[in-house]
Amino acid sequence: MLHQYMGASTSKVSSLYVVRPATMADQAAIRRLLIYSWRTYLPCGAHWLEQRLAAGDCWVMVERGQEIVGLIAVLRRHPEVISIVAAAVCNGLPATQYARMVLSCAESHARRQHVHRLACLSGAVWLNEALDAHGFQTCEHVITYGWDAVPFSVAGNSTVVVERARQGDLRTVAAIDNQIFAPVWHKPYEEIEYVLGRSAYFVVAKHRDRIIGYCWSEWDGTHGHLTRLGVTTDWQGKGVGTRLLTEALSEMVQAGINWVTLNTQASNLRARRLYERYGFRSIGQPTPLLWKELG
Ligand SMILES: CC(C)(COP(=O)(O)OP(=O)(O)OC[C@H]1O[C@@H](n2cnc3c(N)ncnc32)[C@H](O)[C@@H]1OP(=O)(O)O)[C@@H](O)C(=O)NCCC(=O)NCCS
Repeated sequence: MLHQYMGASTSKVSSLYVVRPATMADQAAIRRLLIYSWRTYLPCGAHWLEQRLAAGDCWVMVERGQEIVGLIAVLRRHPEVISIVAAAVCNGLPATQYARMVLSCAESHARRQHVHRLACLSGAVWLNEALDAHGFQTCEHVITYGWDAVPFSVAGNSTVVVERARQGDLRTVAAIDNQIFAPVWHKPYEEIEYVLGRSAYFVVAKHRDRIIGYCWSEWDGTHGHLTRLGVTTDWQGKGVGTRLLTEALSEMVQAGINWVTLNTQASNLRARRLYERYGFRSIGQPTPLLWKELG
């Protein structure tokens, strides 16, 4: 579907912009836009964008049928939520003008799929202002925690077994993730599968062969990022989260990591208490999660 917009005009020659679905053939032009624009949003890395392109969940804003001047990509995390996972606008084009077109397009896409909520977790001021002007509201903040690694012992529930996750565990991990995280934070199965192949550390906690928790993290040199930690509802408050956290941190220390970061929701008091108990301290500015109810 094409969305047309005559550039509102202070300029003498008004430009015709069109938003259309992106194709794999647009990849080089999209890369150029991402390199040269100072207003980009690509929090999860370029591979996400490629996946979104392949899935048909990416649109480009084109000027005069030629140059790509804007981009938006979305991910359906859950039947109820579509997240914006990439955005960019070329230098010189007002973000409000870009937003009016591409966000309308993303909204139409969501409505066609009967999804009633569009969300975006972004620390990009230009994007947040544009979202705000388009009716999005801040509904949560995400905090980043940092920890200067020090040697310590594994703690928590010692009756569970913590072992490397295997391909066959992933459907259960995805189901638990669905159960314990609000829709806006869901990781689709495909992403969890992608993570298994690439993360430095991915474990599950088992009780009598039943998976009751999981944890994965990414490492790069001396920096580790604990990406996900979860425990089934019926096992929460029994030391499994403590066990998974301390196992992960202790592996990182042994691997020579000296700085660990992680993110959590400001409202997630249980998780925050757990992290703070192990010496994590909040760093930087909280990142807002904005969303819009489409009605
Ligand atoms: C956050 C989360 C991972 C914590 O895991 P957990 O297994 O519930 O954590 P623990 O049991 O180790 O610790 C939680 C509480 O139980 C207590 N506890 C620890 N060991 C215990 C034990 N052996 N028996 C009973 N209670 C215990 C802790 O003191 C802690 O108390 P507090 O919440 O009052 O501070 C889990 O609640 C969860 O999966 N939540 C949903 C997903 C989520 O929010 N993930 C983290 C976001 S990044």
